[in-house]
Amino acid sequence: ATSGLGTEIVSIVNKLQDVFSAVGSSAAQIDLPQICVLGSQSSGKSSVLENIVGRDFLPRGTGIVTRRPLVLQLINRPAAASPKPNGDAAASTGDKHANENEWGEFLHLPGQKFYDFNKIRDEIVRDTEAKTGRNAGISPLPINLRIYSPNVLTLTLVDLPGLTKVPVGDQPKDIEKQIREMLMKYISKPACIILAVTGANTDLANSDGLKMAREVDPEGQRTIGVLTKVDLMDQGTDVVDILAGRIIPLRLGYVPVVNRGQRDIEQNKAISAALEHERQFFENHASYKSKAQYCGTPFLARKLNMILMHHIRATLPDIKGPHYPTTPEIQR
Ligand code: GDP
Ligand code: NA
Ligand code: MG
Repeated sequence: ATSGLGTEIVSIVNKLQDVFSAVGSSAAQIDLPQICVLGSQSSGKSSVLENIVGRDFLPRGTGIVTRRPLVLQLINRPAAASPKPNGDAAASTGDKHANENEWGEFLHLPGQKFYDFNKIRDEIVRDTEAKTGRNAGISPLPINLRIYSPNVLTLTLVDLPGLTKVPVGDQPKDIEKQIREMLMKYISKPACIILAVTGANTDLANSDGLKMAREVDPEGQRTIGVLTKVDLMDQGTDVVDILAGRIIPLRLGYVPVVNRGQRDIEQNKAISAALEHERQFFENHASYKSKAQYCGTPFLARKLNMILMHHIRATLPDIKGPHYPTTPEIQR
C-alpha cells in the first residue's frame, strides 16, 4: 500500500485537480500527473480500471461504451474505527457489496455520496447521454469522479474512449480524427503515464494504443504495456516473448492480466472472484507460473503506484508556486 510522503503528495495533486476543474482550467488539470488508458475500442480498458479499483462501477462491454473521458481519483482512506460493513449503506442501496467506508462522489454533484456502485455506473451513463446523446456520440468534456475506499491505492486514473475507425450511430465522419485529438490532449502531456492496453489475442505489431503511445513517448519513458485477454489466446501460444521484451520492447515493461469476459459481466461475476480466477490462471499456467508474481492486476496496481510516485516527485516543483492551493475548497 501507499505510505507517508507519497500518499501526501498524491492527495495534494488530487485536490489541485478538483480546484482546477471547478474553475474550469482544464489545461492545468491535465498537466498534473495521472494515468491514462489508451487502446482500441473493446481492448479491455474499462475492465482493467475496474479491476484496479476492485469494484464494479464502469459502463463497459462490447461496442463503444466509454464516450467521454472519466477522470477517476482513487483515495485511500482507512476504515472507520468501528466499521459496520453491509450496514445502513447496504440496506439503503441494494448493492450487496455496499460498505460505509467506500463511496463515490462526482464533481458535478457535490456533497452527494454514492455507496451503491451500480448507481455510480447509472450516473456515468446518465451524464454521458446528457452531454453526448444516446447514439454513440462522443465528447471531450470529462466526468470527474472520486472513489474513497480503504481498499484502493491512491491513484488518479483516466478512462478514455477507445480508438475506432468506422463511424456508427451519431458519430461524425471524422470520428477517428476526433478521438485521436481527444486522446492526444491527455497523453501528449509529459506528466501522463500511459497504460497502453492491447488484447493478447491480437497482433502486438498492430496495436493502435502502442503506436499512438510511441508518437508521444518515443523513448517509452512513461508507457506501460498492459496485455488483456491472455485467457483468450490460442492454445499453445503465450505472451512470454512480449514480456521478455523480444517483440516490441518497452522500458517500463508489460503486465499481462485476465479480466472478466462478456459472459462474466452478464452473470454479474464479482470482481473478487475475477481477481481470484486471475491469480489461479497465472499460478497454474505452464508459461507463467515461474513469474506469476509479475502477472495480474495486483502487480499492475503496485507498479503503477510506484511509477506515479516517482513521476510526481519529479514534477512537483512545477506544480507548486503560484498554483499552490490556498482556497477553502482545498481544505475539505
Ligand atoms: P474497452 O472498450 O477497451 O473499455 O473494453 P471493455 O473493458 O469494455 O471490454 C470489452 C469486452 O472485452 C467486454 O466484453 C469484456 O468482458 C471483454 N474483456 C476485457 N478484458 C478481457 C479479458 O482479459 N478476458 C476476457 N475473456 N474478456 C475480456
Ligand atoms: Na467497450
Ligand atoms: Mg471503455
